[in-house]
Amino acid sequence: MQIEFLGTSLRTPLVLASGVLGNNKAILERVWANGCGLPTMKSIGPEPRDGHHNPTVIDLGEGMINAVGLHTPGYLNMEEEWQDLENRKFPVNASIYGGSVEEFARVAQFVAAKGPEFIELNISCPNSESHGMIFGVNPESSFAVVSAVKKVTDIPVIAKLTPAAPDIGTIAKACEEAGADAICAINTAGPGMVIDIESQQPVLAFKKGGLSGPMIRPIAVRCVYDIYEQVSIPIIGLGGITTGADAVEIIMAGASLVGMGTAVRYRGINVFNRVNQEIDDWLKTHATSIDQIIGIAHGKQKPVNPKGEK
Ligand SMILES: Cc1cc2nc3c(=O)[nH]c(=O)nc-3n(C[C@H](O)[C@H](O)[C@H](O)COP(=O)(O)O)c2cc1C
Repeated sequence: MQIEFLGTSLRTPLVLASGVLGNNKAILERVWANGCGLPTMKSIGPEPRDGHHNPTVIDLGEGMINAVGLHTPGYLNMEEEWQDLENRKFPVNASIYGGSVEEFARVAQFVAAKGPEFIELNISCPNSESHGMIFGVNPESSFAVVSAVKKVTDIPVIAKLTPAAPDIGTIAKACEEAGADAICAINTAGPGMVIDIESQQPVLAFKKGGLSGPMIRPIAVRCVYDIYEQVSIPIIGLGGITTGADAVEIIMAGASLVGMGTAVRYRGINVFNRVNQEIDDWLKTHATSIDQIIGIAHGKQKPVNPKGEK
């Protein structure tokens, strides 16, 4: 299932979601060797950051809640990782975040020079410029981040959006107008909270956390559907995708590529091979290619530019 995405040829349409398996080359390569077309790195930030105390992740059965707290060594302290990645045989999507527009641009410029095929902007995390709000809930701040990053790098830029946005389609449109080459949606939903009724306390050390896995899939499908209505750049659809049927569903909402994170926990690292096979099996009786079903749930398809040309 060779896929052309923003000028890079991917072996499969499946993407590893940021943050679930870290930044170690051996792990990213293992995921790729097991059917993932595009491994995404854990979000890299401007300064070293420890993240939150344990417990940070809880499995709720129908999905997970996490508050890992964006732990990062900081973009200047990853020389070993970058050197390891230099001689890789697989494409990499480098996820970054910043606390201000200027930080996003600074981290992006540095990281882009390390040679990832794509830069993904995690504008779905809290920032200081908007007093703890998320860049991605506001079209103006989303536009500002994307256009600042586009000025400092030539590699394709993917904006990762949050379902917390009141109108995610408008945010996606602002990102496209700012020059984004693709949209990735969604980041975790919520925040939510789980209380242990014996200790009578919230279970997560940070108390609140983002939801992922099957329980958020209908939100992800709705978000991708809304985004597809507004933009003509490709969409990476993710949020609860665990099976080939889930992947087909989000493609029908408008996704060109499909991401998975929590599914790795439920079905193991081989989930990528299995979902590729399940998509293939479905296609055998329903369509001749994935392209035929992208956005089909809208009643009519529109051209999505697979190379991201404007
Ligand atoms: C433990 C954990 C850590 C995550 N870390 C990041 C991160 O660093 N950057 C990011 O953009 N998204 C992060 N995410 C969100 C995922 O990339 C993904 O958008 C979300 O979990 C929904 O997809 P899923 O249901 O397939 O997991 C994280 C999710 C989990 C569960």
